[in-house]
Amino acid sequence: MFRRRSVSLALAGVLTLSGALAFGMGSHPPEDEAAVIERIKPVAHVEVAGAAGTAAGAVGNRSGEELFKQVCVACHGTGPGAANVPNVPKVGDKAAWAPRIGVGLDMLVKSAKAGKNAMPPKGGSDATDEELARAIAYMANQSGANFKAPAAGEKIAGNERSGEQIAKAVCFKCHATGEKGAPKISDKAAWAQRGSKGLDALATSVIRGHGNMPARGGMADMTDTEVKNAIAYLFKEVGSEVK
Ligand code: HEC
Ligand code: HEC
Repeated sequence: MFRRRSVSLALAGVLTLSGALAFGMGSHPPEDEAAVIERIKPVAHVEVAGAAGTAAGAVGNRSGEELFKQVCVACHGTGPGAANVPNVPKVGDKAAWAPRIGVGLDMLVKSAKAGKNAMPPKGGSDATDEELARAIAYMANQSGANFKAPAAGEKIAGNERSGEQIAKAVCFKCHATGEKGAPKISDKAAWAQRGSKGLDALATSVIRGHGNMPARGGMADMTDTEVKNAIAYLFKEVGSEVK
């Protein structure tokens, strides 16, 4: 099963990294490393089995609690099986979280994505930025924070697809060919006329749908910013611009 495999791969990454860390620091005798792995193992095992047995969200749609229980708990958890990795802020440890909460959720997502000292990138998982944000909010909100995590399907700011990506994925389908009567990219006059409405009004047209054009060009998970980026890109292709 794909899910089960991707989870155990992610955990293998964590174990390898904590092993490498123990050797790299030179201060941990090998028994310590084995003990850490021993302590991670039972938790990881139980949680993975639990996650696979429930209707947990697919990768990309996991809740903060789901990702935490699959991955982050191995180090950030407080249970007897959780590893005592140096400097790890445990869930509920307000003193350890306070300075981290202070930098804001966006920065914490960047930091967790890149990894930091004994924290492997993404905690060793295949989490998306949105899932990391949810798991961080899940942990930090039990430790003094009041973060609002992105809801399922919601994209976090700064993580938008470019206008070019959206246009190529969706908009060109009609606007390159004129399908369904769409104004073609090559028809500069048609776009100049539409452009006079202004970007905000055009974005509203695309978001709601307009004539034969379905709402958001038919891509329901497109954010409003992505819609605007795509419109601006279409106008650039036309050789015009819109404000
Ligand atoms: C292998 C152990 C390990 C796992 C698994 C792990 N972390 Fe961490 N994490 C750490 C350690 C250690 C730190 C402290 C790093 C430091 O400040 O030196 C940390 C710090 C953090 C921080 C604070 C970063 C900062 O800039 O101060 C965040 C946020 C975080 N982890 C999120 C997560 C999330 C989300 C997951 C699960 C997807 C996760 N961690 C899984 C070990 C782990
Ligand atoms: C299924 C075909 C189709 C797709 C896909 C599509 N469009 Fe359209 N679009 C149309 C049609 C048809 C019109 C003309 C509607 C009318 O004026 O009756 C239109 C009109 C527009 C307009 C002018 C709206 C107005 O108020 O005059 C803009 C701007 C636009 N599209 C942008 C986009 C963007 C951006 C995308 C991609 C996210 C996109 N379209 C995807 C068919 C499509």
